[in-house]
Amino acid sequence: MHKIAVLVSGSGSNLEAIMDAIDDGKLNCSIEFVVADRSCLAIERAKKRGIRTAVLDRRGFGKELSQRILEVIGKDLDLLVLVGFLSILEGEILKVYKDKIINIHPSLLPKFSGKGMYGLRVHEAVLKAGEKESGCTVHFVDEGVDTGRIILQKRVPVLEEDSPFDLSKRVLEEEHKLIVEAIKKVLEG
Ligand code: GRF
Repeated sequence: MHKIAVLVSGSGSNLEAIMDAIDDGKLNCSIEFVVADRSCLAIERAKKRGIRTAVLDRRGFGKELSQRILEVIGKDLDLLVLVGFLSILEGEILKVYKDKIINIHPSLLPKFSGKGMYGLRVHEAVLKAGEKESGCTVHFVDEGVDTGRIILQKRVPVLEEDSPFDLSKRVLEEEHKLIVEAIKKVLEG
């Protein structure tokens, strides 16, 4: 059985999709830790399922956050999954888990990516640019922000009447499926 950790900062709907896929037998892995860089709903979702959690406040740890996360999760997991995790990983954790860290981003990378490009801001930028389609991307995490090798992408249409919230909802529905597919693909090599 593969062992993974999930890193979060927000509502945790992608985490919920992963936990459901494990319960349904679609994913052959166990979540050993759910780690957050702030108090958030995702941590409550994990606690409800009896999963070990840790909240490491990014304001308190600053540049030590990544090292502290590594100390909590150890060096023997098979995969780290970032879903809505807003802090940037750096240092030893990137070496220990090289090609074993994945992140989901709510656009068709490399478009609408980089520092400050998260949440509704991404969808606002997509609409402002007049894009006819958008989507989501799962990629490996490297030293950059949203720059790692792409694993999977899913496209969705952008409708004329879309608000940023409408578009974010349509993309999020696809994210819940794509993150499960990507974990399966990476763990099964
Ligand atoms: C998702 O849209 C993800 O792509 C982005 O942050 C959001 C997290 O949503 N990085 P949730 O916390 O999984 O509901």
